[in-house]
Amino acid sequence: MSLIANLYPLMKPWLFRMDAERAHEWTTRMMRLSHSLGLLTVGQEKIPQKPVECLGLRFPNMLGLAAGMDKSASAVEAWSALGFGFVEVGTLTPRPQPGNPKPRLFRLPEHDALINRMGFNNPGIHVAVKRLEKRRTQAVVGVNIGKNFDTPNEDAVKDYLLGLKAAYRVADYIAVNISSPNTKGLRDLQAEDSIRALLAALKTEQASLAKEYGQMKPVLVKIAPDLDGQQIEALARVFNELAVDGVIATNTTISREAVAGHALEKEAGGLSGAPVKERSTQVIQAFRMLLKEGTPIIGVGGILSGVDAKEKLNAGAQLVQVYSGLVFRGPALVTDVLKNG
Ligand SMILES: Cc1cc2nc3c(=O)[nH]c(=O)nc-3n(C[C@H](O)[C@H](O)[C@H](O)COP(=O)(O)O)c2cc1C
Repeated sequence: MSLIANLYPLMKPWLFRMDAERAHEWTTRMMRLSHSLGLLTVGQEKIPQKPVECLGLRFPNMLGLAAGMDKSASAVEAWSALGFGFVEVGTLTPRPQPGNPKPRLFRLPEHDALINRMGFNNPGIHVAVKRLEKRRTQAVVGVNIGKNFDTPNEDAVKDYLLGLKAAYRVADYIAVNISSPNTKGLRDLQAEDSIRALLAALKTEQASLAKEYGQMKPVLVKIAPDLDGQQIEALARVFNELAVDGVIATNTTISREAVAGHALEKEAGGLSGAPVKERSTQVIQAFRMLLKEGTPIIGVGGILSGVDAKEKLNAGAQLVQVYSGLVFRGPALVTDVLKNG
């Protein structure tokens, strides 16, 4: 195991006594510092890379960092050094915004789970794009775009178009986030008519950007786990109709069934980690059945081991991502997934 993977279990009790968001900021800073000192790769096991050809891209391996961990694209090289084959930065909105009042991130260690209501705190897409212009990494980089909290849903298309145009040059793929529970009304964009209008506009813009830059960059949609069968069918219909390039399943859940009785159960926000694992796998399975053959799915939700990652792949995902698992298992999770996933 790498030095950093060995150190994490020793640091974890100390980190877990700290406020969750402060611990996140601290670890991100440490990651950047360790990377600049070349420490992230010390003692790192050489895992034979199994590249994945997907979305017209060559992913060094099938494991990605899920959106939300690096909202501002501040540590892409460090994540890549840790072993990730791809990094999805964001969610990024057209204008910078502070997000919801703190505290807004909570740990439920008994359940290997987090609840967050961050609310798209981010420096604005233009800051992230500037950082990505200078990126030096093998990893594929996805840019996850959203709308500002004070943009009404009627104008949401404008925010997403701005995000797509701003990110197009520096991103390898663009993820359209319509599934965060922490921006009021955002998930309503998953309704059939709204999503059709949004995606039609984005696909038209994608085609014209592809002409301008001489390169087609895939546009994926990130969906919620809290969709019933009818909503899933309606979404899949629209995705097929408009030839969406891929689906990211899933975001966090608003359900609290799996953590009923926990002291933090009533905290508003999205629940992630182990409690969302099964539902996210079911959603992947459902979309696999309904999507046009060859439409890639990125599986995310509750991956805490290589075995969990394998479940997502068996359900029909081509690639996987982790967020909460990294908090509870540390960098050893990367090796576990790459070896056993
Ligand atoms: C603190 C936190 C912030 C997140 N922020 C975003 C975000 O900005 N955009 C997004 O698409 N997903 C966001 N997510 C959702 C994750 O990308 C992922 O879809 C979800 O947590 C399920 O995966 P996991 O169980 O591995 O955490 C966030 C998750 C957490 C825990």
